[in-house]
Amino acid sequence: MKIRDYAVMLVLGMVVFWSLGAAATESPEATKTCANCHNDNGISDDPSIPTIAGVSSFFLENQLAIYAEQARPCAAKHFEKETTVSEADHCALAESLTDAEKTSLAEYYAALPFAAVQQEFDAALADKGQSIHTANCERCHTDAGSLDLDDAGILAGQQKDYLLEQFEFFKQGQRWQPDKMQPKMEKLDAEAMQALANFYARAGLEAAH
Ligand code: HEC
Ligand code: HEC
Repeated sequence: MKIRDYAVMLVLGMVVFWSLGAAATESPEATKTCANCHNDNGISDDPSIPTIAGVSSFFLENQLAIYAEQARPCAAKHFEKETTVSEADHCALAESLTDAEKTSLAEYYAALPFAAVQQEFDAALADKGQSIHTANCERCHTDAGSLDLDDAGILAGQQKDYLLEQFEFFKQGQRWQPDKMQPKMEKLDAEAMQALANFYARAGLEAAH
């Protein structure tokens, strides 16, 4: 190979390296809107807003598609955080995004590190929640719902209030879910939901060790 060929390869290599680096760090324009509520790091500091960092891109992209089809409640304004954005309507938000934008937003947040919410839990309820989880949920939400690989969200360390609301949505059939999850959600009563929420709060703190 001539010296010139090496030089060309080096430049090509740098271009590839640069574009890979850019893909991993450069935030899509739309994240400016998202950051109002989900913060720059995708980690929630509001009980009603989920953490979206470190969750699988497959799951996140699906959620945006599901919102666009109104196959889950659109997220009315019910969070406590003060923001410059007054409208949380994710159906309208998702519908305004192209497929390519949905993909790049999902990939962006999936690449950020997950961090469990630091929240209180009741130990007795968490124990009860653990039995319910093991019998009904662990098959699909493995390692106490802490693995992004399951493409089923991350439950361990997710906001308790957010989870409680979603349990209810699933139970009432207001949010799309796999056929085999529905019967499990239908039989949860208020106490079982509290138990599960406390279990996932504890599991998030344990996984963080
Ligand atoms: C005004 C506040 C607000 C803004 C702005 C916002 N979100 Fe949300 N987001 C929420 C709330 C609240 C929920 C929970 C909705 C619910 O209760 O169903 C949510 C839920 C989600 C979920 C579902 C997560 C899960 O675990 O199922 C995704 C994904 C998401 N948002 C992505 C985004 C993206 C991407 C943007 C920017 C394009 C964005 N959000 C902008 C408040 C906001
Ligand atoms: C047959 C597999 C299966 C079973 C059993 C199952 N789930 Fe799921 N779950 C999923 C999948 C897949 C998703 C993602 C759905 C989507 O992409 O919208 C999900 C999503 C969720 C979410 C949404 C997470 C988020 O960030 O919004 C919650 C909460 C949840 N499941 C709780 C439970 C609980 C609690 C149980 C047991 C009582 C359970 N699931 C049983 C497969 C399952």
